Order: sequence, then structure tokens, then C-alpha cells
Amino acid sequence: MNAPLNAQHLQPATVEFELNGQAVQASAGDTILAVAKRLGVEIPHLCFSEGLRPDGNCRACVVEIAGERTLAPSCCRAVAPGMKVQSGSERALKSQKMVLEMLLSDMPDAGYKWNDGGGALPLSPALSPGGRGSHAGSSSAHGPGSALSHAPGGRGLDLPPSPLEEGKAEGSGAGAWKQAPGQHGELSLWADRLQVIVRPELKALRREQPKADISHPAMAVNLDACIQCTRCVRACREEQVNDVIGYARRGAHSEIVFDLADPMGASTCVACGECVQACPTGALSPKTQIGSQAVDKSVDSVCPFCGVGCQLSYKVKDNKIVSVEGRDGPANQGRLCVKGRFGFDYAHSPQRLTKPLIRREGVPKDPELLKHLDRHSMDWSQTFREASWEEALALAAGGLRHLRDAHGPKSLAGFGSAKGSNEEAYLFQKLVRTGFGSNNVDHCTRLCHASSVAALLEGVGSGAVSNQVSDVAHSDLILVIGSNPTANHPVAATWMKNAVQAGKRLVLADPRITDLGRHAWRTLQFKADTDVAMLKALIHTVIEEGLTDLDFIARRASNFEALRESVKDCSPEAMEAICGIPAQTLREVARAFATAKAAMVLWGMGVSQHVHGTDNVRCLIALVTVTGQIGKPGSGLHPLRGQNNVQGASDAGLIPMMFPNYQRVDNEAAHAWFEDFWGQPLDPAPGYTVTETLDQALADDADPHKVRGLYVMGENPAMSDPDLHHARHALASLEHLVVQDIFMTETAWLADVVLPASAWPEKMGTVTNTDRMVQLGHQALESPGEARADLWIVQQMAAGMGLDWPYVGEHHGVAQVYEEMRQAMHTSIAGISWQRLERESSVTYPCLSEDDPGQSIVFTERFDTADGRVQLKTVELVSADEQPDLEYPLVLITGRQLEHWHTGSMTRRASVLDAIESVATCSVNGREMLRLGLEPGQTVRLASRRGELHCLLRLDEGTPDGTVFMSFAYVEAAANLLTNSALDPVGKIPEFKYCAVRLSA
Ligand code: SF4
Ligand code: SF4
Ligand code: FES
Repeated sequence: MNAPLNAQHLQPATVEFELNGQAVQASAGDTILAVAKRLGVEIPHLCFSEGLRPDGNCRACVVEIAGERTLAPSCCRAVAPGMKVQSGSERALKSQKMVLEMLLSDMPDAGYKWNDGGGALPLSPALSPGGRGSHAGSSSAHGPGSALSHAPGGRGLDLPPSPLEEGKAEGSGAGAWKQAPGQHGELSLWADRLQVIVRPELKALRREQPKADISHPAMAVNLDACIQCTRCVRACREEQVNDVIGYARRGAHSEIVFDLADPMGASTCVACGECVQACPTGALSPKTQIGSQAVDKSVDSVCPFCGVGCQLSYKVKDNKIVSVEGRDGPANQGRLCVKGRFGFDYAHSPQRLTKPLIRREGVPKDPELLKHLDRHSMDWSQTFREASWEEALALAAGGLRHLRDAHGPKSLAGFGSAKGSNEEAYLFQKLVRTGFGSNNVDHCTRLCHASSVAALLEGVGSGAVSNQVSDVAHSDLILVIGSNPTANHPVAATWMKNAVQAGKRLVLADPRITDLGRHAWRTLQFKADTDVAMLKALIHTVIEEGLTDLDFIARRASNFEALRESVKDCSPEAMEAICGIPAQTLREVARAFATAKAAMVLWGMGVSQHVHGTDNVRCLIALVTVTGQIGKPGSGLHPLRGQNNVQGASDAGLIPMMFPNYQRVDNEAAHAWFEDFWGQPLDPAPGYTVTETLDQALADDADPHKVRGLYVMGENPAMSDPDLHHARHALASLEHLVVQDIFMTETAWLADVVLPASAWPEKMGTVTNTDRMVQLGHQALESPGEARADLWIVQQMAAGMGLDWPYVGEHHGVAQVYEEMRQAMHTSIAGISWQRLERESSVTYPCLSEDDPGQSIVFTERFDTADGRVQLKTVELVSADEQPDLEYPLVLITGRQLEHWHTGSMTRRASVLDAIESVATCSVNGREMLRLGLEPGQTVRLASRRGELHCLLRLDEGTPDGTVFMSFAYVEAAANLLTNSALDPVGKIPEFKYCAVRLSA
């Protein structure tokens, strides 16, 4: 991008014009409607929606412009100097009303849109309470009787009352058609506001009503309520870039179609629901929210699934979430994916734990039992008995205390959760360090990006991303490696697809060609396990062809000569045979990356989950450094974080070698600071990681470091750890296991005490997304039965361990906990006070003062290393721990899928997600199927040296030869029974992405 010549170029020119007789100033390029909204001047509009390209097809928004013969659509007409606009002239109003009347006349007698009043009618931000662009307000009552429930004029606006509200419709003439308020969504609301009454003669001409399509598990299609505004088409094609919805046929026969006019449920729809959110009339609706009814409240929160951190609103009726709407958060701008939008009812599952449970006397912990669990019945009454909170807490904490006192602090460990809040994570690690007495605390970051964090801390001094996902809009080249974002980070993927639409180049590097490949300029389908060879070839090319940014290297990097030496034999021609990518393609991509004005790398667990995961990331750091592609807009490093709060949980100190904010426990100054801060002596030695803890649980009884007691908050290692046979036996061998969760997870089955906890919509707290945004979620629901808030439970456990914690206030002192954490992390979040979060909902760190907006791009001047320079590292080619052989000839790659998250404990209990993907499958390509004599849909046996499972076979041409892909979300076919527990020596992350397997009928 060329730098602007002077500040004037940054400002669009100002345009002066007249709106309804008043002189108005606007920016060049503003539409009349945008200016009117800003000023609170109401102009009806239907096909226009914020965030979508204006299409100008409904003509509800026409205005009169002096000197022009025809009325102009205000949504797509730009203001011009001297223009005189009348939005409420007789002629404009007549036309607006005529459009609304004609559209209304075609509507079915009963509408489909709930009158929740909260967002159906797009008001100007200036007038909308908590509306788009506003961060005010955490929840709003929209129920009957609330101001907002009376949609027309119901927002404190000085508008005429609805004729329907006043009963005027009945008196407006015999046969005048009366509609229920708001039943056709925005159409009804605008019609009410303009006092539009449909004449009977028009109603008599109503079009033939199309049949409903209810073939999709999540959404209903009622095209009798469709006004053909194409908002759904634009949302699907241009916003989410899924290209499923189209506009077919001509004239009176024109209609919205899915693919080739398929039923929605049989189409390629990925159920992001963006069309439902875009639809102004309810023609497309969530199945849970059809009909003219009202919700009790709308509560602002953050999605509980992936690290993208989409902001959303829970629509709640009778303490149940009935639907979810995307909010205009900085990471999602209103967008959601299928999990965030339709995966909410896990919170209402009948399988929720509602009472504390204690293992029955004499019932053994049998890890083999987990292979035969019936996930539908979940009757634990033979294994556990219900208990009071007093009894359960006394046993839970008492058992741990006894082990600590008898065997020393190292005999205990804690696994915190990346699905909980920052405050829970902070308190949990504080409990382990000050109450258990060691640093044996870890969480699932060990299983997803531990190697990325290790390499980033070493290389650039910070484990977080350098640039936010949406910054791809400023990249010329986007390299996505080892990641399947359309499945795992779907809203993040939309920013990448949008960038491609805007002409940017996308390179997808992955052994599997996934959906994003359709949008890629080049796909590098390298052989699994050869990341380092491929990346060294790219670095070699940059250096050999003189494409290095020598100035950047000289000013900001260390160890370049050693790096150059280490890649000198790694030409693309030499690496081609190893990684399987033609040398010419490697050179082409390397040149494009180096010469792009801005290039960014985003990666996932395909990079990190290898025994050479840290080396893979070291190579990525080297690639952006030698090309100078870091520290500026559109250029940098972004490890796409998995769980919704894995970034925050790591920041808060759920890591065995780090205090909060990545301060090493063996650093004398940090150690002294925390001893002083918490007022207690602390262990100066790093603790055990997740996998080391389980190894230590199986240690010899004489081992002084044998782990005997474990407290697990919201994690499920009996599903998520590699080589589950080993992991489950380790868990079963513990003398005392306390599990705090919302469901009877596979880990909980092996517990001594199970504490029923709260689901995310039931609590208030902060989470930190992959973009370093600290975001606030509000409580929308009461927990069922005797389930209690996690923050309360952790504090009770701390009291049971002899700690005297002082947190008071609403939601179990969450604000006080946050403020304490803010002090412990002052070098990154000092400027993000609790009050500020309540005001702004989301603030990016680093943020050092109240008036600091937060830095979305870091390393612009220096890196966070001791000398401020990138520390380049040299790496060697290392092979996966276990190679295929005659007995186990295929490679297994595990991962996630769009509908199911992680171990599936939540998503498989979400009815829509489970309906879309209900059975375990493994995928191979057609050639492999033919070779093995297998067919799609048949039950197959997948086996490794560590275990076997049965599942259905799926055809996936993106999976390479000799490879099987499988999700690890299915308890009845747990992929981790097969995986290898070999670790990356630096990050201690297991090699989930590569092990040898056999596939047979
Ligand atoms: S289905 Fe809804 S969003 Fe799509 S064209 Fe019809 S009214 Fe508009
Ligand atoms: S992209 Fe991630 S955060 Fe956003 S709705 Fe989907 S699962 Fe939730
Ligand atoms: S809103 Fe302007 S033409 Fe439809």
C-alpha cells in the first residue's frame, strides 16, 4: 500500500447537502440512508442491511431529490454537494408505503418471525439501545410489557403509535387486513410505523404460496414470507462466501434456491445461519424461533466454542436459550458459524449434572468401561451416589489435603480449562501454586499450541499472535498452513475468503486439501510430516534468489548467518522429493511471499502437533523474518487458537512453567514478585505438563514425585489425551480424582468426587480470543438444580485446602478476581479495567492505560525478546516418531470437524449439531478405498499399535493417498485410542497428527 502523501489523503472529502430542509455534512461516498440513520431520520428499508453490500432492489427506501425526475433509493445513492433530499415528502412517502403495502399483501396470514423487539428493526446507532456500534448494555428485557416489545414506536422514539396497537386497523374499512404486530419482522415493523394498511383487493391477489421446506435440522424455509430482498443471498455469497443460496428463475417465478433448487437439508449448506440472521421477514428462521412470540431477554455474551471469539446475544425465554444472534464484535462483526448459532442447547441437556456425586463404596475405577459407555443413557447411579455440597466439598478438598500432607506437594496436580473464564483460570492456577504447593498445573494448551508458544516465546518473546485475523484484509498474500479454518475457525475463514474476493492471494499448505482450497491461489499438498523440509525450501529460495529484506534482518534479527547456512542444502529441487511439492511451485510461492507488500502466516495444529512442532514454528518465524513480513499491517504470525479461552487460560498462568503473563516460575525476580503478591512461599521448579502428570500417576509407588491426587476443572483428558489406554489407566490409578464439569465426561466416570458446574451462558466472566481481545460475557441463565458457578467451586476448594481468599461481590467476586489478575498481568492488560470491559465489551491487549485503545499489531518497533530482536533458530529434518510399515501401512491424521468441538462433550449434546453429524466416521480418498476394497458408508475397523475402533467410512478426495483422517469427538470411536503419545521435546505436545494405522472391513 502506498503511504498517503499527507494527512488530507486520510480524510474523505466533506460533502454538504440538505436533508429534509436541514443543512447536513457528510463524507464523500456516504449514502443518503447512512447519513439519515446517523441523524436519526427514519427511512424504511428492507433489502439494505448493515454489513451487506447495498443492492437497491426493494425500493422501500426511496427519497425525493430536487431536480430529479424519479425517486432514488437512499440505500445506494451517494450524497452529492448541494443535493436537496426529502425523505418524507408526500411523493416519497406514498411510494414507500406502496412498496410496503404490496409486499405485505403477499405475506401469509400468520408470520414466522418472533417479535422479540430486540434488533428486528435496524435503527440508527444513535437511537438504538445497545445497537450496532454501541457497547452499552449487557442485557435488555424485550418481553411483553417492556418498552421494546411494542415494536413500532417502542424505543423511546417520537413516532406515531401503531394503528394496530391502537386498534385503528379494525376501523379503517370493512375487510381491511389486520396483521399481528411484528409477525413479518422488519416488514411489519416498517408498515406499522408508516401506518400501512393492506387493501383487501390487493390481498385477494396474493401470490401462490410456496410449500415450507423443513428438511434442515436447524432452519425452516417458508418462502411464502419471502420478499426477495436477496439479503440471504448476499450474506451467504458475499459475507460467509459459502455460495449455497442463489436467486433463480424470472419474473413472478423468481425464488430463492439452495444449490440447484435442492431442499435446504440436502444442499451443501454449512448451517452458519447467516441467512437467517439476514432475513428481514422470517422466511428463513431458526426452527426454535418460529411464530409470533416474544423472548424474555437478550443477553450479550461470547461464543463458547472456538478461539475466534464471536460476540453473540442469547435470546432467552423461561430460562432457556431459544436462539442466538451474532453481535457486532470486533472479531466477528455479527457473523457466527453453526456451532455458535445453533449449538446452544447443550446447556439444557437432560444429561447436565445437577447434584454433587460421590463414588459408591467399593465400585472400582474401570478404564475399559469407557469403551462401552452408552452416550444416550448416561445412568451413573450404580457408580455414584448423590451428596450434599458440604459432603462433596469436604471429601474433594479433604482427599487432596490428605495426600499433600502425607506425600508432599508434588503428589498433587490440577488441570484447568480453556473453556472457562480468565478469572476461573487465574484462581485455579493460584489454588494449585499456593494451596497444593507446586506448579503442577496445566491445561489443553499442552495438546494444541504448546509448541507454537514455545517457539514464539523463544523467537519473538511473546506467545500470542502478532496480527489479528481480520488483518488479512491488508495482506497481499495469506499463507494458511496446517489448518482447516472453514471447519475449525469458520468465522475467521470468512475474513480470509473475503480477502480472496478482494483480490488477495491465498496459499493453502496442508497434507489435506480442505474447503479453503477452493479459494486458494496455490495449494501445497505436502506429504504429512514434511513441514520442515517444505518450509526450509521456501526460506532457501528467498535467500538464494536475493529476496531477503536485508535492512529488516540487519536491524531486527539475530543469527541470520547460521540460518542461511542451515538452509543452504535445502533447495526446492532437493526438498521436492521429500515434501512432494514441485520445486517450481515452491519457488513461485516463496517469491510471491517475499515480494508481497504484506504477507501473513496463519497456522493450526497441523503445524504444532508433531514431534517437530516447535521446529515447524521456528521455520515460520524464520520465513517472515527473512522477508520482513512482520511488524506491519497485513504481515505477521497468527497461530489460530483452538478453544474459546485457550489464549486467556495460558495468559492467566495455567501453565506449569509460567506464572500469569508468561513469567517463568524459575525466574528469581518473577518468583519473588509472586511470593510477595500472594503472600506465600512458592515452588521455584516448573511443574508437570498434562502428559507428564499422567505418566507420573503411573509412576512407581516409591517415586517421591508420583502424582496421587488430581483436580480437573472442565477438561476431559480421558478423551483428549493421546494413547487413551495409557491416559485412562493413569486416571484410574489415581488415589483421589476430583472432576468439576457440567456433564459426566469420560474423565468424570473415573472420579472419586464429581462437582456439578456451570455452563458458559450461566456465568459472567472474561475470555480472551485468538486475536488477544479480552471480552466480557454476561450471565444469561440460572444453572440447573444444584449446579454451581465454577468460580464459587474453586473458592470452596481453596478454603478446603486451608486458603483464606477474600473475593466478594456479585457473581462470586468475579470483578475482584479480574482486578487481581490485572495486577499480576499489568504489563499486558493494565489498561483493561473491569469497568472498561463493562463499557466496551472487548479490548485488545497489550493495553497499558485506560486511554490506550490496545495494540492490534505488535512488534512494530521491537520484539519482546531481551535484546528486542528476533532470535532465529536453525532446525534439522526430524521424522515422525512412528512410521507406517507393512502391518500398519497408513498414516492417521486426527483433527476436528465443523459441527463438533474438541471431545464433543458439549457439541454432541447440542441437538442440531448432533443431528447434522451424529456418527463417527473416518475419511480416505477414492483411490485408497479402491485399493482396500472398501466402500463409502460401510463400517470399518481402524487399528494402531495402541488400540482399535469401529466407525463408518467416508469419502474425502482431499485426504491424500496413504492417509486416514478422523475427528476425535466421538466417545464410541475415540480416535485417541490410536494416537501416539510421543512428545515434541520442547513444547511437550503429543504427535496427534501422525501415527501408523491399519484400515480394514
Ligand atoms: S429468504 Fe429472507 S433474506 Fe432471503 S430473499 Fe427472502 S426475505 Fe430476503
Ligand atoms: S467461529 Fe468459533 S467463535 Fe465464532 S461462532 Fe463459530 S465456533 Fe463460535
Ligand atoms: S432498502 Fe433501499 S432499495 Fe431496498
